[in-house]
Amino acid sequence: MPIPSGTEQRPCRVLFVCLGNICRSPLAEGVFLHLAQSRGSANKYQVDSAGTGGWHIGKPADPRSLAVAAKHGVDLPSRARQVSRDDLEEFDLIIPMDRANREDLIALGGDPAKIKLLRAWDPEGGPDAEVPDPYYGEDDGFDRVYAMCERACEGMLDESNP
Ligand code: 4NP
Repeated sequence: MPIPSGTEQRPCRVLFVCLGNICRSPLAEGVFLHLAQSRGSANKYQVDSAGTGGWHIGKPADPRSLAVAAKHGVDLPSRARQVSRDDLEEFDLIIPMDRANREDLIALGGDPAKIKLLRAWDPEGGPDAEVPDPYYGEDDGFDRVYAMCERACEGMLDESNP
């Protein structure tokens, strides 16, 4: 499904989803908003993120995500929350980071037509490419995740506002 073209009157609602909502999806959310702001089109989107798991509810983003974002001048103000059935109805587009997230969202009742992996828009990714979970890895995993988010969010914005 192409990205619905948002307007100031009816912004396109985009929800980024990972497992914990502290590493990948807050980064994707922040990068998307940052890039949309630099294109002057942030008012066309309503962006949020959530986790399929609930272990980190209320926590800020992981310090390693905050650090890589800050290095690129990107703010990550969001607090972790768990995805709900209402989210699956209310958001126009739901963007999981990996295939397990996507399967969990579909099992929760999400419409597969509006659930699409982030790296489907990454020129170095593809329809089934994943953003790997950096939580238990080395710090450079966060730089790689940042680069994937940046390429994919640019691709999303190009498609939405050519
Ligand atoms: P995220 O990373 O899904 O990118 O936020 C994780 C954060 C925490 C856990 C797993 C993944 N955890 O198991 O606590």
